[in-house]
Amino acid sequence: MRTHYCGDINETLIDQTVTFCGWVHRRRDHGGVIFLDVRDREGLVQVVFDPDTVDAFNTADSVRSEFVVQITGRVRGRPEGTTNDNMKTGKIEVLGKEINVVNKAATPPFPLDGYTDVGEDIRLKYRYMDMRRPEMQEKLRFRSKVTSHVRRYLEDNGFLDIETPILTRATPEGARDYLVPSRTHEGSFFALPQSPQLFKQLLMVSGFDRYYQIAKCFRDEDLRADRQPEFTQIDIEASFIDEEQIMALTQGMISEIFEKELNVQLGEFPRMPYSEAMQKYGSDKPDLRIPLQLVDVAEFLQDIEFKVFAGPAKDPKGRVAALRVPGGAEISRKQIDDYTKFVGIYGAKGLAWIKVNEIEKGVEGLQSPIIKFIGDDNTMSIMNKLGAENGDIIFFGADKEVIVNEALGALRCKLGEDLNLYTCDWAPLWVVDFPMFEETKDGGITAIHHPFTAPSCSPEELKAEPTTALSRAYDMVLNGCELGGGSIRIHEQSMQETVFDVLGISEEEQQEKFGFLLDALKYGAPVHGGLAFGLDRLVMLLTGANSIREVIAFPKTQSAACVMTEAPGQVGNAQLRELHIKLREKPKAES
Ligand code: AMO
Ligand code: AMP
Repeated sequence: MRTHYCGDINETLIDQTVTFCGWVHRRRDHGGVIFLDVRDREGLVQVVFDPDTVDAFNTADSVRSEFVVQITGRVRGRPEGTTNDNMKTGKIEVLGKEINVVNKAATPPFPLDGYTDVGEDIRLKYRYMDMRRPEMQEKLRFRSKVTSHVRRYLEDNGFLDIETPILTRATPEGARDYLVPSRTHEGSFFALPQSPQLFKQLLMVSGFDRYYQIAKCFRDEDLRADRQPEFTQIDIEASFIDEEQIMALTQGMISEIFEKELNVQLGEFPRMPYSEAMQKYGSDKPDLRIPLQLVDVAEFLQDIEFKVFAGPAKDPKGRVAALRVPGGAEISRKQIDDYTKFVGIYGAKGLAWIKVNEIEKGVEGLQSPIIKFIGDDNTMSIMNKLGAENGDIIFFGADKEVIVNEALGALRCKLGEDLNLYTCDWAPLWVVDFPMFEETKDGGITAIHHPFTAPSCSPEELKAEPTTALSRAYDMVLNGCELGGGSIRIHEQSMQETVFDVLGISEEEQQEKFGFLLDALKYGAPVHGGLAFGLDRLVMLLTGANSIREVIAFPKTQSAACVMTEAPGQVGNAQLRELHIKLREKPKAES
């Protein structure tokens, strides 16, 4: 149907006849001459129809935005002064000889030319139209380039692409499962994989040595800008390898993509123990572009009257931390109130502050609602420890350690953005030495990564001190985003059973849920480990998109639905009966 893509027609084709297909991007009537901009995947081309080619002129006159057309014409240079250097095809135009309307189009639900601010629900409802926009075309093409780099890099390094099942059993990665009822096994359900974790370990037991997969994963969890219920991992596993080798290999892959696609050299990624990340940044995925750090100040506040500070300062599970913000004395009362509300989202009950006006005058040179509670000497000791300078504001958080970390950690990122404190464009790092377990709200313990992660200690030590044991896990963090995570795995059955025991998983439950893994570990499992990257997050960062929804062709909304297909949808009684499912009647108040 065509000889060229619209976007590929250029000055090398002058005086030649070309045929191309595409969508009418814009139609202009310039005093008896019709101009059409026709668009396809490769770009736009300008076509001119003169009234002397009567039929073509009349057809061109009748087309509207987004009609699908096939055009034949002669390429010619644009007249002096009308060339457009910003367009690949900006030096030429096509003199239209024939135009064939392949298909008409209804008026688009929103304009596609130029950036228009359309609500996301409308964009998602008409996603196929949204994706005609050059911004979306570019992002998805970019994504395709990233996956081809990934495949090439991993294949060059001896990795085999092997698919793993989607209909499977639960793989615990900390979220709820999506379940699929079985028709042939009454009352039983498949779970969609939260990750291919167990299958990739079993592939190592089978001796494939190096596996990768660009794998769909499913997690029913609270959604955010960087989380979707269905997302894609670059999933990697290798045998007879240690953490240094895995980290070097995967860092090499990410660095190569940045170098080839953005011409950015990421350099060597620094390593930071988890404990340091939490202490200095209140987060296990610190954004190191921002120079602010949390500093502990409990030592000065244990014996004061002010309970808000003294309580957490004395509590072994509490924390009192300060965040010094150079130049922050400019922040208004109204902004402080807004930041106080902001930290409230993370459970903070307030946000104390001190502005440093003239530090050389001692407490007289400070401004704050809390100095009277802290006392002059303590205040000056804190200023000293923080290295306070004129023009600073210092924020304080006092509460349970988790709350202070989350609240001040998030405030640190918000201030970085609001005050544009970034010191560089890209700040990658590895976070290492994670604890094996963390406490849950109900006082139990849960695996920080997943229960197949190897501890850095013996089974005896793990049993004796589970909460202080470290794991052989590592996370790659970039600009405050957890890009990927992995670990060296447990390859011995007894160690795997110990971890399940420590987690309080009974022997019966171990057999029922993970019997196949425990069995496999009996038959000669190699030392192995791996990692998975969030492909959507990687592409989001590379393209500067502000949500992973912008780099996924058909994403779900914040409430985990698809407004285009209206999934999830209801099913008829016959289908439910086949699946042995009976819906509960809605309580009266709801119906
Ligand atoms: P983890 O749970 O850390 O590890 O996931 C790996 C990476 O996947 C991405 N990711 C997500 N992206 C979008 N939406 C989500 N809901 C979502 N959840 C996770 C993140 C994350 O770093 N099996 C292990 C990996 C391993 O140990 O090899 C795993 O799944 O970028
Ligand atoms: P109040 O006595 O509650 O008015 O608090 C005095 C100051 O301490 C105010 O600036 C509060 O925002 C702040 N504040 C209260 N609770 C906390 C907390 N848990 N952490 C940090 N600051 C707090």
